[in-house]
Amino acid sequence: KKIVLAYSGGLDTSVILTWLTEQYDCPVVAYSANIGQEEDWDAVEKKGMATGAEKVIISDLKKEFVEEYIFPAFRANAIYEGSYLLGTSLARPLIAKEQVRIAAEEGADAVSHGATGKGNDQVRFELGYIGLDPKLKIIAPWRTWDLTSRTKLVEYAQKHNIPVPVTKEKPYSCDENLLHVSYEGGILENPWNEPDASMFKMTVSPEMAPDTPTYIEIEFKNGDPVAIDGVVMEPLALFTKLNKVAGANGIGRLDLVENRFVGMKSRGVYETPGGTLLRESHRALESITLDREVMKIRDSLIPRYAELIYNGFWFSPERELLQATMDAAQKTVNGTVRMKLYKGNCITVGRKSDNSLYQESFATFEEDMVYDQGDATGFIRLNGLRLRIQALQNK
Ligand code: ARG
Ligand code: SIN
Repeated sequence: KKIVLAYSGGLDTSVILTWLTEQYDCPVVAYSANIGQEEDWDAVEKKGMATGAEKVIISDLKKEFVEEYIFPAFRANAIYEGSYLLGTSLARPLIAKEQVRIAAEEGADAVSHGATGKGNDQVRFELGYIGLDPKLKIIAPWRTWDLTSRTKLVEYAQKHNIPVPVTKEKPYSCDENLLHVSYEGGILENPWNEPDASMFKMTVSPEMAPDTPTYIEIEFKNGDPVAIDGVVMEPLALFTKLNKVAGANGIGRLDLVENRFVGMKSRGVYETPGGTLLRESHRALESITLDREVMKIRDSLIPRYAELIYNGFWFSPERELLQATMDAAQKTVNGTVRMKLYKGNCITVGRKSDNSLYQESFATFEEDMVYDQGDATGFIRLNGLRLRIQALQNK
């Protein structure tokens, strides 16, 4: 009866838009999510209408993205396979959620997206749809149509008067939002190929960054950043500022080979300037405000938490369970961190907190009143008991 398509205005989703109207003979609503990518939104709207959409809806999700997706993940220090900060993985569930909302509002019974059948994004979109409205019919053209090559896609576009970008196609695929830009495919498929310096959008290369360091103070409350250099800011404005400052200092580039949920390895290049700075400073504050054993348990849960976000299970009971646990650990994560940014490096140079568990009076090597060194004799004897028994037995 009606389809809501997640539409970017690019060639692929433009072809999908036309293909859907043709195949299903029903109105298609083209929906675009503004999650902070650089885009000419008027042009997207015009193009969507010209390509046959019944209506184009552009939703500004930037604030929600920062407050309900980025910040929760960074409270948990989420990181996939030790390095990826999940920029695309966090955006997909939000895009899906808004799409489901629009489907209800527009009286649509189907949703569609332009993710291929080989990637993670299809899983993230569709687990989102299923988790939020299992009645919706899901149409994934890339898995069913016969436009199986670039050439066929372009032919189809030309036949249907869909404007094919005259500018030379980028030799890789990228996905951009407030948190990161990702690049994969094309010339990057060979993991030996270093990307060209001109590819990057959010960061300068470290060698081009300023020769003098930039200092920044970030204040946190319950694990969320709330102020920069003493100025309290809303999450979106604050995160945008972190991106600027970190990007100008060449921070947050990453080149890796990751394991996709569907099974293959994939080479990805990322730039996540603000996220990299946020994670480093957050961990620095945790080093003085988190109890040792709480931190150990929390850290042991990070790979699990990150993996389920990567795999598309944002709207799941297990993510909610882990989120509640992660958030509970953040009650004491209040204070300020001082960071030095210099040519791609993000160095903690100071941290302070009213909740600090770091006590100079305990740590000092000077004479003190609070710690009896004699206690350590029994501590070590008892900890060594097993080892003593082993050693005697081995004799
Ligand atoms: N490999 C990353 C991930 O799975 C980035 C995916 C980028 N998606 C895209 N459509 N270009 O999260
Ligand atoms: C895609 O296949 O649509 C993009 C890559 C991914 O989802 O992992």
